[in-house]
Amino acid sequence: MAAVVLIGSQWGDEGKGKITDFLAEKADMVVRYQGGNNAGHTVVANGEEFKLHLIPSGILYQDKTCVIGNGVVIDPKVLLEELSYLEERKIKTGKLLISSNAQVIMPYHLVLDGLEEEARGDKKIGTTKRGIGPAYMDKASRVGIRIIDLLDKEEFAEKLGRNLEEKNNLIVKIYGKEALKFEDIFDTYLGYAEQLRPMVADSSLAIDECIQAGEKVLFEGAQGTLLDIDHGTYPYVTSSSPIAGGACVGAGIGPTRINRVVGVIKAYTTRVGEGPFPTELLDGTGEEMRANGHEFGTTTGRPRRCGWLDAVIARYAARISGISDFAVTKLDVLTGLKTLKICVGYRVDGEIIYEFPQSQKIFKLCQPIYEELPGWQEDLTHVQHFEELPQAAQNYIRRIEELTGVPATLVAVGPGREQTIVRGTIF
Ligand code: IMP
Repeated sequence: MAAVVLIGSQWGDEGKGKITDFLAEKADMVVRYQGGNNAGHTVVANGEEFKLHLIPSGILYQDKTCVIGNGVVIDPKVLLEELSYLEERKIKTGKLLISSNAQVIMPYHLVLDGLEEEARGDKKIGTTKRGIGPAYMDKASRVGIRIIDLLDKEEFAEKLGRNLEEKNNLIVKIYGKEALKFEDIFDTYLGYAEQLRPMVADSSLAIDECIQAGEKVLFEGAQGTLLDIDHGTYPYVTSSSPIAGGACVGAGIGPTRINRVVGVIKAYTTRVGEGPFPTELLDGTGEEMRANGHEFGTTTGRPRRCGWLDAVIARYAARISGISDFAVTKLDVLTGLKTLKICVGYRVDGEIIYEFPQSQKIFKLCQPIYEELPGWQEDLTHVQHFEELPQAAQNYIRRIEELTGVPATLVAVGPGREQTIVRGTIF
């Protein structure tokens, strides 16, 4: 019996797609449990690049069952487009299951995401404008439309009618925009429902059966710890729970089923959207990281803010999710830098703190305290074993382990499946 949860340890974009793909080879089932198509996972498999937003990266292996769990918000149009994109590239998608209880992103969610952001002015969150926040708002308000509702014409008509009345009130009376039409949405979404119907399942049951049969299940988190609605840099967060605990809620499994938690952590830090970022580099080094690491959003194309690795954040992520193993990604991107810095604590108002602050007002004031380590000049992209890394690169990884108390079991030195140094067994 093996259930492994994989999460992002920073602000998302840690390279989870690549590590999921790497671990998926050994798994029987791969499950998404939160978020929606705000995520963007880039995976290079057999030299080919794939960009996925909703479907678990495990789909690239033809024999894995992939599951979109109840905690995910699904834009059916995007899901169907992603299925076509995969089919066109000769990837079979017949083993995909969709939870009947997952929430549906509706056209008014997209409209409201845009309008709400605009109304926030300089307090905007910098959302991906994919309707994620408004869809989760409806879920919490208990008016959301679930996949199962889409499959029932009468139920869907009733729920859509009620929602549209309320949403059009907002759209027209508050924001002064044009109302959305019932018929347009109803017919289109019924069409989507028929295409999705064969994939809809009781996904919690399917996952449990897999675990009980002694098979291996990988839970694939999207976004990252600091974008978590409870534990992240609120309000500059997403609307779901990307932390390991989110897997229990968003997939319908108990915490006693989980054996390990892999925290994916980039060798430096990036952030998209607004909000404080103590180790951000606004100079040439930051630009170098962005260029060498191709740090532009998979979903929105936005340039990512780049900075040094923050061990305070790494320790915090390890605590919140009970991370048992780190997968350090993009170590190769740091090649060529003379000196590397790791943030080990913060200076705030003349005080030194070593724990991630609860208050965002304080986090905003945090000045990083750095430890400096020598860099390396050698190309790492062909290295297969840890001992073959330049001494400075080994020291950098070992220092991360010391500062966090978590072993770096996997170290990635390039985007390909084979560019992964393995120092222990996960599955
Ligand atoms: P939303 O999830 O679209 O509501 O966006 C909320 C915040 O989360 C924004 O700062 C986004 O940039 C950020 N965000 C959402 N998804 C991702 C992701 O996959 N990677 C990085 N940032 C993300």
